[in-house]
Amino acid sequence: MIKPVRQFLNPLDATYITFYGKENMNNYNKVSNTRVIRPVWDRTTRCFHWINVLCVFVLSAIGTAILYEDNLGFSNEGIILLKTVHVYTGYVFTINLLWRLGWAFFGNVHARWKAILPFRSGYILELCTYVKDFRSGTPPTYLGHNPLARLMVTLLLMLMLMQASSGLILAGTDLYKPPFGGAIAKWVTNGDAERLAQLKPGSKDFVDLVAYKEMRTFRKPVKKTHEIGFYLLLIAILIHIVGVIITEIQLKQGLISGMFTGHKVLPESPKNKD
Ligand code: HEM
Repeated sequence: MIKPVRQFLNPLDATYITFYGKENMNNYNKVSNTRVIRPVWDRTTRCFHWINVLCVFVLSAIGTAILYEDNLGFSNEGIILLKTVHVYTGYVFTINLLWRLGWAFFGNVHARWKAILPFRSGYILELCTYVKDFRSGTPPTYLGHNPLARLMVTLLLMLMLMQASSGLILAGTDLYKPPFGGAIAKWVTNGDAERLAQLKPGSKDFVDLVAYKEMRTFRKPVKKTHEIGFYLLLIAILIHIVGVIITEIQLKQGLISGMFTGHKVLPESPKNKD
């Protein structure tokens, strides 16, 4: 096999030319192997991705501290502060997520639902072929999401939606914060204006104890859902990261830098060009 000795990036047409043969300019055995740099991820998709990474990291870290609050020995004020920071980060996370879900109607062709959801006709066959080809080391090149990545992205979006909706309810039950905090505060005080004015998160001082107990019973499955969602999301994120690294090692398409620059480096005509 001839070894490649030099590779040049042609900045004019964004192609790579690889030269093979002896290290002698007059005696080149030249074979051109063109790799094309293609724009894929639009700016909104990239911004969503990195804001989301940051939010999930902060939410998971603070969430873990809330989960182990008894072992960590926080004061009541300390735990309220932790939950408040978690909820404000959660608002950023939720708005960013909703923005992305909306962008799937307006973004470029790779950001749209059609390019994300694993429901198009012939998808199962395409998925099986992709997995088989990937295992044999010759997977087809996809410009946007490959069939396996579609599954992963759909799962991640569903889990994040589950975290956002259960988290927004908990923001109401634990801290009386929007969007449901007003209604929950009225519930636990039986709508008494005086109690309502003095109601404080983390304290039972001005609540109606029967109504408060009812609210806590309602909260229980929501809290469980939020906790299970957290573990599932951690597992899904781990699989996502390992999947990206394995694909990058095998195909060398600049997947990771692509989430910063928006470009992929592709060795051949991609399968989904549209
Ligand atoms: C990726 C997203 C999120 C992750 C990974 C996450 C993680 C967690 C974890 C692990 C807990 C502790 C659960 C427990 O004590 O049983 C927690 C609690 C909580 N989360 Fe989240 N969360 C996320 C999003 C949100 C959002 C969007 C909100 C609201 C805006 C939110 C509001 C809350 C509240 C109020 C609690 C306290 C519940 C309690 O007392 O346990 N979370 N979160």
